[in-house]
Amino acid sequence: MSERPDGPLPDGVVRRQFPGDDEPRLATRGEPVYGEPVEDGWRRWDATRSKLGATFEKGLDTGLEDGDAVLYLGAANGTTVSHVADFAGPTYAVEFAPRPTRDLVGVAEDRPNLFPLLKDARKPANYAHVVESDLDAVVQDVATRGQARVALENRRFLADDGRLVAAIKARSEDVTKDPRAVFDRVLNELREGYEILDTARLEPFHEDHLALVATPKRE
Ligand SMILES: C[S@@+](CC[C@H](N)C(=O)[O-])C[C@H]1O[C@@H](n2cnc3c(N)ncnc32)[C@H](O)[C@@H]1O
Repeated sequence: MSERPDGPLPDGVVRRQFPGDDEPRLATRGEPVYGEPVEDGWRRWDATRSKLGATFEKGLDTGLEDGDAVLYLGAANGTTVSHVADFAGPTYAVEFAPRPTRDLVGVAEDRPNLFPLLKDARKPANYAHVVESDLDAVVQDVATRGQARVALENRRFLADDGRLVAAIKARSEDVTKDPRAVFDRVLNELREGYEILDTARLEPFHEDHLALVATPKRE
């Protein structure tokens, strides 16, 4: 289904055949979270419910590795960040809506490396005292206006060679504009602080979303 060769997956993320599927699917090892099929301890990672899953399916080289220290922005009720915490090291999960954060806290009970934070990703000063610096990756999926600004504000947590792996939702920026124009504007704004390494549209998994991988721009 991907348009280019499979990109590298972090150790701890595999492609595995599950009963009833026509082809192998992504999977991580951990406690189930959202009713996903589990076989021999491997949880199927549903790319239609996860922008990061779709980013792997589209073959992007995210630079993510097992054991990475990760800041995840827009964790919601933990669907994707649970898979991240299955392969990563310390995983700080920021979500500003109380209701999904309650579920997220439950997901973290089985994962000692997952730290839920009921915080606004636009105000990183409010969690800077909790999140370590020199992180390997910021993973972002905040469906909000100003997605480039969120990424720029959180660049402070990244190591010089760290990665931003973000999914940009066009409709959150401007429902009236052509998504391509929205993505161009977001990428241009991101270039204030990041070098863009790769991008891909996330169809057919997610309509009008752009996945991007970037690294902090050298001053
Ligand atoms: C598309 S959902 C995330 C889905 C999740 N990443 C997953 O794949 O499991 C976007 C989330 O971003 C959260 N969000 C939006 N703006 C935010 C902000 N400024 N700070 C923190 N969370 C935010 C929303 O409450 C929502 O839960």
